[in-house]
Amino acid sequence: MVKHYSVAVIEGDGIGPEIVSAAKNVLAKAGQSEDISFEFLDAPAGAKTFQQTGTALPKDTLQACRDADAVIKGPVGLPSVTPGVVERDVVLGLRQELDLYANVRPTVLYPSLLDQSPLRAEKVKDGVDILFVRENSEGLYSRQGSKDQHRATDVSVYSQKGVDRILAYAFQAAENRKKKVTSVDKANVLKTSLFWRERFEAIGKTHPGIKTESVYVDAMSQYLLRCPSNYDVVVTDNLFGDILTDEASEITGSLGLGPGANLNPETKTGMFEPLHGSAPEIGGKNVANPIGMILSMKLLLEFLGHPEAGKRIDDAVQHVLEKGYRTADIAGKNTIAIGTREMGARIASMAGT
Ligand code: IPM
Ligand code: MG
Repeated sequence: MVKHYSVAVIEGDGIGPEIVSAAKNVLAKAGQSEDISFEFLDAPAGAKTFQQTGTALPKDTLQACRDADAVIKGPVGLPSVTPGVVERDVVLGLRQELDLYANVRPTVLYPSLLDQSPLRAEKVKDGVDILFVRENSEGLYSRQGSKDQHRATDVSVYSQKGVDRILAYAFQAAENRKKKVTSVDKANVLKTSLFWRERFEAIGKTHPGIKTESVYVDAMSQYLLRCPSNYDVVVTDNLFGDILTDEASEITGSLGLGPGANLNPETKTGMFEPLHGSAPEIGGKNVANPIGMILSMKLLLEFLGHPEAGKRIDDAVQHVLEKGYRTADIAGKNTIAIGTREMGARIASMAGT
């Protein structure tokens, strides 16, 4: 029996359309080989849409995202649109409207990219495989606050419901991994962090098989560079997670490699996007690295309950990298320079065999 899914697709701005096109192709090919088919529905949103229609997230797009089995989202934003508009309406808008409280960002250093890591070989010789679990609905992103000519405030709010559900997600994820959860906070200064730490310790007690530790965010930004192999699941708040995942992706060779999933496991809603932005300066030039977007399709397949199809994508990416094919951001000695389209096509063809 063929499994069929409908997927809403926000192609986004800048490099969005080209990397989304590559990712759809890879997803279709990996699915085909496992008897899974996808219907893609175009759902415009972002800076281009804002310029054309006056709204960055049209109602029909939001509805299409609600109705679909999953959402593919390319990066959004253009310099010609005031910073903050598209971020607020599309990125945060969708995460909050769909209550996608878990932002899950696997950070894996592939052996073939060891020479691309800015860290010395001895620092990464034990491998890097961290699952970042970022709280995605509260904290400083709750959009409370004010600004006038003389003063501005941002309000960070964390509820027990909000904290407990993300911590529960992290512990659950650790059960299937190396059974360690590191919680990152700033409990020496912030009340929200102190609350977070108390809930972490309480929930940790209900998972006796899992090793736990709490680390301050400033120290964590340092440890990630000093001993990245020490970490398994890292759970943290919304803003800290935003910052640490960009830092960690560089350890794997490039920001362009980082995938991401925004999930609500209870309502079975998922939106899949890379962790990088729309890079308008290289948009349409066939030079962007599509791998972060493509690996997000692996997360999509896993979320829909098809890890074997997801593995096809990971294997295909690794195979193509091992053969030496590289986009400009990860070019190394004796590698073969290719563009976005060719990278996408090579991965798709591998994922389908
Ligand atoms: C991310 C991005 C967003 C965030 C921006 C675009 C609002 O940086 O997904 O990490 O801060 O969450
Ligand atoms: Mg970010």
